[in-house]
Amino acid sequence: MTSPPATVSPGGDPAAGAPPAPLRRGLITALVLVSTAACIVLLLLLLPATRSDPYTVSTLQHVGSTENGGRLFLINCAGCHGIAAQGLVGPNLHGVSQRRSDARLIRQVVSGQTPPMPKFQPEPQAMADLLAYLHGLV
Ligand code: HEC
Repeated sequence: MTSPPATVSPGGDPAAGAPPAPLRRGLITALVLVSTAACIVLLLLLLPATRSDPYTVSTLQHVGSTENGGRLFLINCAGCHGIAAQGLVGPNLHGVSQRRSDARLIRQVVSGQTPPMPKFQPEPQAMADLLAYLHGLV
């Protein structure tokens, strides 16, 4: 009688180089814990970056006046976006607040990152008013 051929047991044979099953489970748990921790750290780092810009925070703490926002819009924005925000050189802004977050709208106005739209520097109250006006453009 010959002995049966050597097989590697599914649980991992220490003699074959794989760590024993309990140790592997421990490693897997550790890996899961480490990647969860990494995700949490990433979230903590990324979320404030989009939210805690002091100008945006301050703007969002003001209650905007749609009426004053409309006035500011006519003076500063209507030349490009049209008197009723229907679009001209700049795009139609109806429904824009459904497509873009408040933080994104604020950035659009103050950043100057999309020429020819200039960089505006409204006081937080004026920005809140513009935001209220944009929210009214359904
Ligand atoms: C000189 C012309 C000009 C003026 C003035 C201007 N814009 Fe714009 N605006 C643009 C252009 C062009 C774009 C498109 C930019 C792009 O995405 O490439 C734009 C884009 C936008 C967007 C993003 C639209 C979208 O669909 O994402 C918003 C919101 C906006 N403008 C608001 C304003 C407000 C509020 C003002 C006044 C404070 C203003 N704009 C003044 C030209 C202008």
